[in-house]
Amino acid sequence: MQKPLDKDEIILMRKSCEIAAKVLQYTGKFVKPGISTLELDKIADDKMNSLGAVSACIGYHGYPYSTCISPNNIVCHGPPMAETILKDGDIVNIDVTAKYKGFFGDTSATFLVGEVKPEKKKLVQTAHEAMMVGIEAIKPNGWTGDIGFETDKFVTRRGYSTIKEIGGHGIGRVFHDSPFVPAHGKKGKGERLRPFTCFTVEPMVNEGTDEFVEFDIKGSTIKWYETADGLWSAQFEHTILLTDTGYEILTLID
Ligand code: MF3
Ligand code: CO
Ligand code: CO
Repeated sequence: MQKPLDKDEIILMRKSCEIAAKVLQYTGKFVKPGISTLELDKIADDKMNSLGAVSACIGYHGYPYSTCISPNNIVCHGPPMAETILKDGDIVNIDVTAKYKGFFGDTSATFLVGEVKPEKKKLVQTAHEAMMVGIEAIKPNGWTGDIGFETDKFVTRRGYSTIKEIGGHGIGRVFHDSPFVPAHGKKGKGERLRPFTCFTVEPMVNEGTDEFVEFDIKGSTIKWYETADGLWSAQFEHTILLTDTGYEILTLID
């Protein structure tokens, strides 16, 4: 179980999350047809460093890039590549994790590339709403299952599916901590949500099946994942601070 964060640690978490959010927002402005995912990775990494932080991903279990960039049928952990050129009509998730003075801030968003079909826009919109519905279920001393229950109910009612085996996580002094925060579950079940800890909410929403296929990343034990049926997947992620009275979205900026 995570040890509660003290006042000074919360200040550092705020800063780390603000930097991650700024990097994500800045990088998103460069999403357009013709840019490669490796170019976006470089833009994100330069911005991260200019804001006084480093990417938590570089070197994490041997992962060699600053961000994960996952277009279309890629579920998550997409490795940036010079050969992956975004095209008109694509969707693309960019996932940014900052490390600032020993504290981690994690956020992602799915961006539209040029003119995107209404049915794909609906998938992206649903993923965003699914994250927000999950966040709204957070209560001090509540359960991870409260979040997952509301998320999965919302997503399945729209005719989509949620990824079950990969999800949110505790975060703070380490990148990935307990609790595991899945996008499905039962109310009042799972792990406890403790005041003055941080965790992420990051549902992956699929157009079709919730099954996926994994692929290796050279030199790393991190895998990247594609949908098993080739249909598309969208995701959003925020880092949340739970207090004794409610919660705060630390990676939300305007
Ligand atoms: N940022 C991802 C998450 O949401 C984890 C990426 S780990 C990496 O938890 F090594 F692939 F970068
Ligand atoms: Co995360
Ligand atoms: Co992330």
